[in-house]
Amino acid sequence: MEVIVEKTYVEMSRAAAREVADVINAKPNAVLGLATGSTPLGLYQELARMHKHGELDLSHVTTFNLDEYVGLPISHPQSYYHFMFENFFKHVNIPEQNIHIPSGTTNNYRAFCDWYDRRIKEVGGIDLQILGIGSDGHIGFNEPGSSLSSRTRLKTLARSTVEDNARFFERKADVPIYAITMGVGTIMEARQIVMLADGAKKAAAIAAAVEGPVTAMITASALQLHPRTKVYLDNEAAGQLKMRDYYDWVELKKPGAPKV
Ligand code: PGA
Repeated sequence: MEVIVEKTYVEMSRAAAREVADVINAKPNAVLGLATGSTPLGLYQELARMHKHGELDLSHVTTFNLDEYVGLPISHPQSYYHFMFENFFKHVNIPEQNIHIPSGTTNNYRAFCDWYDRRIKEVGGIDLQILGIGSDGHIGFNEPGSSLSSRTRLKTLARSTVEDNARFFERKADVPIYAITMGVGTIMEARQIVMLADGAKKAAAIAAAVEGPVTAMITASALQLHPRTKVYLDNEAAGQLKMRDYYDWVELKKPGAPKV
């Protein structure tokens, strides 16, 4: 894993957006895996800004979202479908038919999940997967204990996740308990992965994911086995990393490194 620590959330978001833009510029029909949540909002804003200024064309890009709440119609303001259109898709030029978001209202979850994984393969696999991390170390909604080779499927959310997400709902009783999520195994097949985290409340999960043992108890730790993962952090999210000096040293010395 390459760990890149920026001073602020804005700088972290810009650095990650440059990474995403580089992938799209090198491969205009790139397939992106996308995440919801507060963390990637700055990244999406930066990509939208690049697009608005004519610096980034997404007209051949295909996307797959990581997850969706079960039971929320797409029109629900807290559905991830709604989130993605409001915060990203309506500001860029990805054709609607290239956008994939798990359905939270299918009447056959098993068949839908199998189709979703198959569809990812059919379009050639995910070139770059964007991830946040939960305070319990989850990626997507792969809660502690999820198989590290899991595929897209229905999951019961952890109590801590329901509580973390309650801030978006009027009443705690309205927070969905189930979700569809890409599996850890599905995520691990992406050619490149960018994981983002900001704020002190993510520091423990990041330290466990990056420097702790690989364990299903922290599903983000599976990324230690991925050959091309970059972790973009702000100072606070990096607060509990033991190897911080080394990560900063690597970034400092990067301009002089032999080109690979
Ligand atoms: P957040 O969620 O970006 O809203 O903190 C991240 C996650 O739960 O994966």
